[in-house]
Amino acid sequence: MKTLVLGSGGREHALVAALHRDAHTTDLHCAPGNPGIAQLATCHAVDATDATAVVALAKELGVELAVIGPEAPLVAGVSDALREAGIAVFGPSQAAARLEGSKAFAKEVMEAAGVPTARAQALHVDTREEDIEAALDAFGPTYVVKDDGLAGGKGVVVTPDRGQARAHVDAVLAAGNPVLLESFLDGPEVSLFCLVDGTTVVPLLPAQDHKRAYDNDEGPNTGGMGAYTPLPWLPEGGVERIVREIAQPVAEEMVRRGTPYQGLLYVGAAWGSAGPQVVEFNARFGDPETQPVLSLLRSSLGQALHAVATGTLSEIPALEWEDAFAATVVVAAEGYPESPRKGDPISGEGLNDASQAIHAGTKLDGEQLVSAGGRVLSVMGKGKTLQDALAAAYERVDRINLPGSFVRRDIGAKAARGEVHIPSVQ
Ligand code: GLY
Repeated sequence: MKTLVLGSGGREHALVAALHRDAHTTDLHCAPGNPGIAQLATCHAVDATDATAVVALAKELGVELAVIGPEAPLVAGVSDALREAGIAVFGPSQAAARLEGSKAFAKEVMEAAGVPTARAQALHVDTREEDIEAALDAFGPTYVVKDDGLAGGKGVVVTPDRGQARAHVDAVLAAGNPVLLESFLDGPEVSLFCLVDGTTVVPLLPAQDHKRAYDNDEGPNTGGMGAYTPLPWLPEGGVERIVREIAQPVAEEMVRRGTPYQGLLYVGAAWGSAGPQVVEFNARFGDPETQPVLSLLRSSLGQALHAVATGTLSEIPALEWEDAFAATVVVAAEGYPESPRKGDPISGEGLNDASQAIHAGTKLDGEQLVSAGGRVLSVMGKGKTLQDALAAAYERVDRINLPGSFVRRDIGAKAARGEVHIPSVQ
């Protein structure tokens, strides 16, 4: 199957790596890709958000499946343009991708579907000063202040500090976006990726991301600094419960609205005293969780994505997974997330092997691999135990050099020590 993947980050490198080892995929292309992806697929210098250019490329190549990695092309309607051109596409329509693109829309869908989530209130540019202050009184501390637009997971501030919360409210409003204030959900977070084809929902392995920049969950929110899978602390039947109480009703509600969901529904949930509650939805695979999750997939990724794209997900065999743990540790550039330094030389071992180092923000400067983004590499580890998987990843991290870079040293550490607890299982 000739396949085109759109995007250029770690998630797309992980998708390409999983497709590359899959017998169903015969010819692999990516736009625009990155130096890691270029080792496994033919890369094309096409902007993934330019629908006309993407359709032209897909037609010229004669692809049988287009896989959209990031949210920006989804929100720009690239999936609709590809579908109109008769190409099987993995990725929801622009209308369905609003589940990620507008947090207020996601709340509306959850309310209609009876899905548990945080209380929320929208603030707008014309919200009166006293109403903003009253809303902050009602919701915090802890304050959860979200930019109600696309921010790649970076537009959220979670803080006990009233001044910091208010500053983020003001900054988002000043940028012309609405703000969503939410009640803080207790309990550890789960990222559950679900393949959704209308009303058929197939979950992948559950994973956990680490969103704060520094150890002990300190520092600013990032796109994600490391992840592991599966989750030793998740209660028996936890995945099925998230599907039953969250993903399935949302899929059915989207069908009821006439905008069936066809792609990857990323359920970000906090498992607190009231059971799993939605923190956020994303309309695409999560980054960096995709890296460890797909590294354990034994079944054909190409077949699964094609089944979603063609409405035949209920017909494929159950997904099979390696009986192991996997982890990834993100090597971030100096200054990430505020102002990452770019152009530093990257050297070391495993840079040409996706099972060791996934490229997230790299480019070639002549022959030299250099940093080109905030999250530069996503270093991989696998093992029979979570401890083994983490040790393998950190051993590889220590064999890579990037001036000024930093990593979190505690990815998966609490889970490996048995210190992740659910407040009280319902
Ligand atoms: N890992 C967070 C995200 O993909 O948004």
